[in-house]
This record gives sequence, C-alpha cells and structure tokens, in this order.
Amino acid sequence: MFYISTLLPMLLSAAVASLSVSYHSKSICVLERSSVDFSCTFDYPLYSTLKTTRWFKPLSNQKQDGTQFGISVYHSNTAEIHQLYKNRTAYANQDRNCSLQIHNVSKSDNGMYFFRLEYDHGKYTGPWGINLSVAVLPFRVTVKTQKKNGHIHEGDYVTLTCGTENCTPKKEPFAWFKNQRLIPEATDNVFHIASVSHHDFGNYSCGLKTSSSTSTDEILLDVKYMPKNVEIAVFPSGKIREGNSLTLICMNNANPSVTNYSWFLIKEAKVSHIGLDREFSIKSASQKDNGQYFCTAKNDMGSQNSSVIALNVEVSVHQNVLLTATAVFLFLMAVVIFGLIIWRIQFTSKKHPTEQTPAATVTEEIYENLRKSQESEGKYSTSVVYADLSLPPASDRPSCNSQAGDTVIIYSLLSYNK
Ligand SMILES: *[C@@H]1O[C@H](CO)[C@@H](O)[C@H](O)[C@H]1NC(C)=O
Ligand SMILES: *[C@@H]1O[C@H](CO)[C@@H](O)[C@H](O)[C@H]1NC(C)=O
Ligand SMILES: *[C@@H]1O[C@H](CO)[C@@H](O)[C@H](O)[C@H]1NC(C)=O
Ligand SMILES: *[C@@H]1O[C@H](CO)[C@@H](O)[C@H](O)[C@H]1NC(C)=O
Ligand SMILES: *[C@@H]1O[C@H](CO)[C@@H](O)[C@H](O)[C@H]1NC(C)=O
Ligand SMILES: *[C@@H]1O[C@H](CO)[C@@H](O)[C@H](O)[C@H]1NC(C)=O
Ligand SMILES: *[C@@H]1O[C@H](CO)[C@@H](O)[C@H](O)[C@H]1NC(C)=O
Repeated sequence: MFYISTLLPMLLSAAVASLSVSYHSKSICVLERSSVDFSCTFDYPLYSTLKTTRWFKPLSNQKQDGTQFGISVYHSNTAEIHQLYKNRTAYANQDRNCSLQIHNVSKSDNGMYFFRLEYDHGKYTGPWGINLSVAVLPFRVTVKTQKKNGHIHEGDYVTLTCGTENCTPKKEPFAWFKNQRLIPEATDNVFHIASVSHHDFGNYSCGLKTSSSTSTDEILLDVKYMPKNVEIAVFPSGKIREGNSLTLICMNNANPSVTNYSWFLIKEAKVSHIGLDREFSIKSASQKDNGQYFCTAKNDMGSQNSSVIALNVEVSVHQNVLLTATAVFLFLMAVVIFGLIIWRIQFTSKKHPTEQTPAATVTEEIYENLRKSQESEGKYSTSVVYADLSLPPASDRPSCNSQAGDTVIIYSLLSYNK
C-alpha cells in the first residue's frame, strides 16, 4: 500500500516532468526582411507517439496567452500552414527539437508565437510563448538623461539609443556618427556618455554597420554650457593708427547664445564699464583709447571673462609724413635765412671800401701780407685797389719779361690819411 501511494505520484511527476517545451528567448527583435530563429526544445513522455507538432500565432483580436491558436505558422501537416508562412519557414524536424526559422520577416509578423504538440495520450502548449517584434526602418536616435526637465548640462550622464519605433535588434553591429564622422568606439545600439561636455555638442546619427542606407536623420545633442573661449578679436587687425576706426568683438562659444555682454577698460589701475554689446567700436582711435580691454559674456549657464588685450594707438603714417614735410620745410627755410644773413654780412663788409672791387682774383696770401704791413701803421686807413691795365702789344712797347700774355696785373698799395 505504501509502495503504491509513493510510487504513483513519482510516476506521475516523471510523466509530467517529461512533458515540456522550452523557448530559448522570450522576446526577440529582428530587422524587417531578415530571418528570425525561434530556438526551442521539447519533451514528451516515453512510450508515447507524437501525432502533430505546430507553431501557431494567435490573431491580434485573440488572447495572446496560448489558449487560442490563431493561424499555423508551421504544421507537421503542411496543408495546415497558413498562406503567409508557406515557403518562409524552416522547421528543425529533429527529435525533441522544435526550432523554427522564419525568413523575410515583416511588420505583419509582429506577435506571439507558441509551440504545441499532440501525442497519443495528450496535448501540450509551451507556456508564455515568444514575443516577436519586427524592427521597421528607419532607425532613430533617442537621447536620455537622468534629468527630467530635458535640458542636458555639462557633466550629465547621457544615453543615446539607436532603435526603431517598436524595438532594437541588439545583435546587429551598429555604427555611430557625430557630425557625419564615424565614432569608432561606438558599435553597440546604445552609446553612453558618462560625463557630457561641450565637446559632445553636435549632430548624431546611427545605423547598421553593414548597411549605410539604414542611417538615421541627425539629432542634435544640445549640451548647454556657459560661455567658453571668450576672446577679443580686433578689426581691422594689425597696428592701430590714430584716426582709424576700430571694432572689438567679444568672441565666444556658448549654448545657449550669450544674452549679456559687458566691456571693460583698465586704465591707470582703474576699471571702467564701457559697453554692453557684443561689439565695441571706436570711431576714430586716439592716444586716449590706449589701455587694457576685456569683455564678459553671460548666458543662462554662467558668465566668463575674456583675457585682457592691450590697445596701443600709433601716430598715423599720414601725420608722420606731414610732420616730416614740415620739418624739412622749416629746415630749408632756416638754411635760406642763414644764407641770406651770411650774404648780407659779407655784402656790407665789402661795401665799406670806397672803390669797386675788380673782377680779378686775388690770392689770400698777398692780401694778408698787405694787411699785416698796414696794421703797424695804425693811423692810416688802407685799401687795396686792383686794376687791370691793358697794355699795347709787345711790339709797340718797351720789352718786358712778361710771360702771361697781354695782361699784367699791377698791385699797388695806397695809404691815405683818415
Ligand atoms: C513556394 O516555393 C515553391 C518553389 O520554391 C513555389 O513553387 C511555390 O509557389 C511557393 N509558394 C508560395 C505560397 O509562395
Ligand atoms: C535544433 O535544430 C536547429 C536547426 O536544425 C539547430 O540549429 C539546433 O542546433 C538544434 N538544437 C538542438 C538543441 O539540437
Ligand atoms: C520579402 O517580403 C516582402 C513583403 O513583405 C516582399 O515584397 C519581398 O519580395 C520579399 N523578399 C524576398 C527575398 O522574398
Ligand atoms: C511584445 O513586446 C512588445 C514590445 O516589444 C510589447 O509592446 C507587447 O505588449 C508584447 N506583447 C505581449 C503579448 O506581451
Ligand atoms: C546640426 O544640423 C543642423 C541641421 O542640419 C545644422 O543647422 C547645424 O549646423 C548642425 N550642427 C552642427 C554642430 O553640425
Ligand atoms: C541682461 O540683459 C537684459 C536685457 O537685454 C537685462 O534685462 C538683464 O538685466 C541683463 N542681465 C544682467 C545679469 O545683466
Ligand atoms: C570678470 O570681470 C568682472 C569685472 O571686473 C569681475 O567682477 C569678475 O569677478 C570677473 N570674473 C571672473 C570669473 O574673473
């Protein structure tokens, strides 16, 4: 009695245990037009005979728990196979192997799939079934952060997911692009950025590595950050000349764009606020504009000061030319006036002697000698008189040892009493 009461449940449990269906995956996502594998094994009691095996798919208006059979995707009696799945399935058809392949899947294949076996003493449907989702292109990128307001700030943990409307086929190799450039390290359908920075700002797209036609539209990873690289650009560049117009621009990189600018001038250790626009213009530069300038750029995220630039206005070339010309003119005038003065002094000193000066040249030596001889006299004014004497031809006058031709210069010294 004891024997039977313990043996029967054991036999029963063995019989129950040997009736099973096991699906390898509970839910599967595949790309449309690709093939899907439903890996599956089953068991049934020893000494039983299998009558039918089948995969069925409940219709969309039926219960999805396996109690309503819908259409046959596979059937051991091929005539039972639904038109939609004829020629598209491959059943393992081995002992206790219920694996099924479906080729060229499409959106209409979405749904639950169950394996059911019937043998001579009973029937059994594998519970839970397999939930097949067909990923219909195009892919799209979704961006997620831990924050709820949707804004992405520097330092946030960001996840980009490449998927379709209903699911993502995770087994495929993915390619990610930032501003159309491949990101080599991103090969998964999910791309994590642990601490996002302003460098990550940009347009992202993804797709299957194997097919460029699957690439998505770009999505902007809109990282918000306070102004960076705040710098002053000076236009025109180069030397700043007096009188020229000048524009200083507060360059920066910020997201969102800068809303408030400020300009400061440091002069003699005093900082003054000089402007509120992105540009600071000087209509006509002068030495007064010399000093150190910097700007501040501010957006919702914060503010940043530029580095300081020194402005040094040079006297313009125009003015240099004018100054040089004036200097040259003045110099020439001075020379002319000086010359006139000298000439005048010489003229008056020469006019003093009573008689006109003859054209003949006088050697200094004789003149000096003559003067010296006079100085001793004291009482007398002296003057030198030169005269050319034209003498008759040599033949008409008494011979004289003259070598210089017809003209003889006669020097004479006259003294007269003052
Ligand atoms: C299945 O394929 C065979 C040949 O491969 C073809 O003759 C038959 O028409 C196909 N049936 C369907 C329903 O496509
Ligand atoms: C079941 O059959 C499929 C297709 O023939 C095969 O790939 C798979 O390895 C088999 N599974 C087992 C457990 O034998
Ligand atoms: C795959 O299925 C689609 C319809 O869903 C059909 O237009 C296409 O021709 C099929 N491709 C192959 C290779 O059978
Ligand atoms: C199958 O999976 C999809 C998501 O991929 C889900 O929306 C749907 O509710 C699932 N179906 C069932 C019956 O669990
Ligand atoms: C992102 O794409 C938009 C629209 O195509 C474009 O206007 C923008 O300049 C792009 N941004 C970057 C950083 O490439
Ligand atoms: C920024 O500028 C706006 C006007 O453009 C002004 O209302 C606001 O007070 C300014 N903010 C700061 C912090 O200066
Ligand atoms: C930027 O300049 C302003 C004005 O001089 C000053 O008050 C502020 O502290 C500066 N900020 C930084 C970050 O240096």
